[in-house]
Amino acid sequence: MFIALEGIDGSGKTTQAARLAAALGDDTMLVREPGGTAAGEGARTLLKDSGIRLDSMAELLLFLAARAQLVTEVIRPAMDEGRDVVCDRFGDSSVAYQGTARGLGAERVEELCDLATGGLWPDLTVLLRLHPEVAAERIAAEGRAADRFEGEGMELQRRVAEGYEEVAARHPDRVRVVDASGDPDTVHAAVMAVVGAVRT
Ligand code: TYD
Repeated sequence: MFIALEGIDGSGKTTQAARLAAALGDDTMLVREPGGTAAGEGARTLLKDSGIRLDSMAELLLFLAARAQLVTEVIRPAMDEGRDVVCDRFGDSSVAYQGTARGLGAERVEELCDLATGGLWPDLTVLLRLHPEVAAERIAAEGRAADRFEGEGMELQRRVAEGYEEVAARHPDRVRVVDASGDPDTVHAAVMAVVGAVRT
């Protein structure tokens, strides 16, 4: 099964993706976006650098290039071997960030994602829902430097959160929303409950 974790910055998806992958067993492939391949990690460095100016379409195409490589090199081969794949972000990030928040258009970005991945979407997308103010407090408490997206502030995160709500409304077949405001154990239990419900 191919599962993606999605949410705004600071929603805890990296922690939850790691815990989910561990719970599904040693054979599970855990990947993150952008990244997971040499080419993808290169794109990630470029994309997160606040010092580099990027037009929204150029930004989208870099994410899509990283994703195309990840699908070909890692995700499809793992799925062909029958392994579970957990991905920390996938196409819905592009739809919410570049499609809705940056204004490129959600449906247009979905189509470009289809092109980049040969139409591959997760069997299940777990959307960690957290209020942008609460997420910002968590990032501040961690004390790490903000990347280009976090550095743009609250307004971007609010639009991304709206973008995710639209994704969830448009794809009720594969998107499940989980309340991410609790402690990590509580959120993990809720993630496992939706994964369990879809697997059976
Ligand atoms: P993220 O995984 O949140 O990095 P980290 O958890 O290490 O801070 O991803 C980097 C940023 O890229 C994040 O702000 C979301 C953004 N992003 C997009 O805008 N579009 C995309 O398609 C993807 C995959 C990520």
